Amino acid sequence: MIDLRSDTVTRPTPSMRRAMAEAEVGDDVYGEDPTINRLEQRAAELMGKEAALFVPTGTMGNTIGIKLHTEHGQEVICDSRSHVLDWELSMVAWFSGCVLRTVSADGELPEWQHYRTAIRTGGDNSAPTGCVTVENTHNMLGGLVYTLDSLDEICHETHRLGLKVHLDGARIFNAAVSLGVSPARICGDADTVMFCLSKGLGAPVGSLLAGSAADIARGRRLRKRLGGGMRQAGVLAAAGLVALEESPPRLATDHENARLFARGLGLPTCPPTNIVVFDVSHTGRTPAQIAGALKAEGVLVSPVAETVLRAVTHQNVSAEECRSAAEIVKRVLTSGT
Ligand SMILES: Cc1ncc(COP(=O)(O)O)c(C=O)c1O
Repeated sequence: MIDLRSDTVTRPTPSMRRAMAEAEVGDDVYGEDPTINRLEQRAAELMGKEAALFVPTGTMGNTIGIKLHTEHGQEVICDSRSHVLDWELSMVAWFSGCVLRTVSADGELPEWQHYRTAIRTGGDNSAPTGCVTVENTHNMLGGLVYTLDSLDEICHETHRLGLKVHLDGARIFNAAVSLGVSPARICGDADTVMFCLSKGLGAPVGSLLAGSAADIARGRRLRKRLGGGMRQAGVLAAAGLVALEESPPRLATDHENARLFARGLGLPTCPPTNIVVFDVSHTGRTPAQIAGALKAEGVLVSPVAETVLRAVTHQNVSAEECRSAAEIVKRVLTSGT
């Protein structure tokens, strides 16, 4: 099988497995796991923030980040195709008691001009905005990357209104590689940033939430409340530390493989990172039917919207496999069966 469903399907490398076996551990709920402490410190440095918190999933990191910046009864602004809206089971409502108000830029990344129109200052008849969330890279929009200017403007203008920004940077290292800058530069002005170890970086489990020391101290309590106090999870953090050192340099290969795949399919646009989304409405078949036909041919992709399939490149698929997957997808899309 050539598995292009997601970069979450990656398996830990031999060096990650070795580091896991040898990890020094302690009880992290007492703050005594030296490997987790090192990972949190390294993550904070890489994001240019005061502190960071190891969480089991990106969803938990986003949930805590948004909770830190909001009060019950407020609104949270997000893109209409964002992960916090589509794929996190309404955690913003469930945990933070907020409503998501969406902005959209017709398949492009929403800019400050879009966010601005959605922000409300409250009053007698409308709920005030609590915070703004931005997703970078953007999963459902095909791994699009914000320009530094655009993201800086969103953060700067949101702050001018006295509001906070949470960055869903699940794939911030892909964004950094694509722009040729450090992750710290990208998330410089965001108040909190979540990034995942378990996607393109290839670690088996875990995400980090980075921000001010005060926010992360509060975040630690919120993590416990969500059942995320993980005890001797240094075995997981050890793989994360290896991922942070070894994986960013090879993300450019994933991006090149995504371009190979997109070119092989004859798509008109070139994916900027490791995610390719493609519309299949012209086939008269549903994405699920096409995904089923592809599975029978040895290629796994994800149906992600009514007419859209997604393929994601990662460390466990080669250039050759991406080329051959593109040929198979092209054949299945044109075969009419
Ligand atoms: C953009 C984005 N944010 C957050 C998440 C959540 O990560 P997790 O699956 O670890 O909860 C994902 C996962 O795919 C994602 O793509």
